[in-house]
Amino acid sequence: MATKKFVDPSPYTKPQSVGHDSDYLYKQYLKHLSLGDGSPLSTGVINFAIFGLGRAGTIHLSNLAQNPRAKLLYVVDDDVGRHAQLKKYWKLDDTVFLASSGASEVFKDSRVHAVVVASPTHTHEDIVHSALDSGMAVFCEKPVAENLQDSKKCYEHARRVGKPLFTAFNRRFDPAYSKLRDRVLAGEVGHVHIIKTTSRDAPLPTIAYLKESGGVYHDCSVHDIDMLCWVLGEYPTRVAVFGHANIPEIAQIDDHDTVAMIFSFPSGAVGMTDLSRNACYGYDQRLEAFGPRGVLRCDDERPMSGLSSQTGLDGATFNPIYFSFPSRFKLGYYYEMEHFLDYLQGKTTKMLVEDHEVLAVSKIATACDEAARTGRTVDITWSKDELPQ
Ligand SMILES: NC(=O)c1ccc[n+]([C@@H]2O[C@H](COP(=O)([O-])OP(=O)(O)OC[C@H]3O[C@@H](n4cnc5c(N)ncnc54)[C@H](O)[C@@H]3O)[C@@H](O)[C@H]2O)c1
Repeated sequence: MATKKFVDPSPYTKPQSVGHDSDYLYKQYLKHLSLGDGSPLSTGVINFAIFGLGRAGTIHLSNLAQNPRAKLLYVVDDDVGRHAQLKKYWKLDDTVFLASSGASEVFKDSRVHAVVVASPTHTHEDIVHSALDSGMAVFCEKPVAENLQDSKKCYEHARRVGKPLFTAFNRRFDPAYSKLRDRVLAGEVGHVHIIKTTSRDAPLPTIAYLKESGGVYHDCSVHDIDMLCWVLGEYPTRVAVFGHANIPEIAQIDDHDTVAMIFSFPSGAVGMTDLSRNACYGYDQRLEAFGPRGVLRCDDERPMSGLSSQTGLDGATFNPIYFSFPSRFKLGYYYEMEHFLDYLQGKTTKMLVEDHEVLAVSKIATACDEAARTGRTVDITWSKDELPQ
């Protein structure tokens, strides 16, 4: 009775709520419900070829196979024993499957608009150049090439032929990470004093992969370096790194599996990253920006995050965190492909990962490698044209 006085008019008499912006999955649902944005550009189909169907390539294949804006004309992978099974599983009856020795067929086919490069890093450069020479747009897994000079050549080529070369820094497209950046840029924590990432891989990559990966600094830490620079909008001028191989097989290939990096930024911000190749409890990915007005933090995400139990004296227990990158960054991979399609279809004119940014990350990763191997702090100098625009 006491609350009867608060009875509202029927909700049917009021405008209905349309939800809130942070429910990105509901926004996506609404887009599907309304069949896109209705613009004529959204109805075109982009024809793709994909190179490499391993851990990363399978993620992109699954996003393309389910995307009404994409059609897969070719799959190129040297593991030809898997072709028949993949074709059947994804119902790719009209898709041509090739080994890399037959890749010229892709580059001769003028129906192909875009190529996804998800083969081992040492193969990227050749595929990128061949695709650009054939007038095709390129979506390339990081890193674009094995070193800074070769990456530069890829971007110069793209500029010369006027075709997009997109580097897949998927973390930029993760809803939580990109929201943290928006809020930092809006001044929520003030002038950032400390920015931090934790990046611990799961499961432990195979030694065969690590041998071809280009090393932990170019293969793994590039994601963290990109996050720090992307959130701050500046590049470090000094780095100090401690790296070690605690796993004997990783020591044997002269790589590191355990790394701590410290960055000094011109604004006075200090960046920190800790990195491991092997987190037994799952894919531990965190990002934090701290300033005089507070702290913004993206903690680990977990499946069924609302499920907890409190059945004993040990306190609450939660579901484990996401196990690996395909699940934790599922949305980042989805949105980066959506962005690439938007760019190709002229729905946006600004690529959200730009060449000078990718080259800067590669330069910083090289400095980190040097700092770890020499045990010395390394200064990084920047020319005006290398700095964020
Ligand atoms: N953005 C991310 O989160 C992320 C995650 C994992 C890997 N990667 C990147 O993706 C790339 C591939 O890594 P992965 O883990 O998927 O490797 P992987 O070893 O799992 O798969 C590579 C695949 O490429 C095929 N292949 C080999 N040579 C080829 C060629 N010349 N042409 C076409 N296919 C070829 C192999 O048969 C294999 O199926 C690497 O550059 C890596 O840095 C990015």
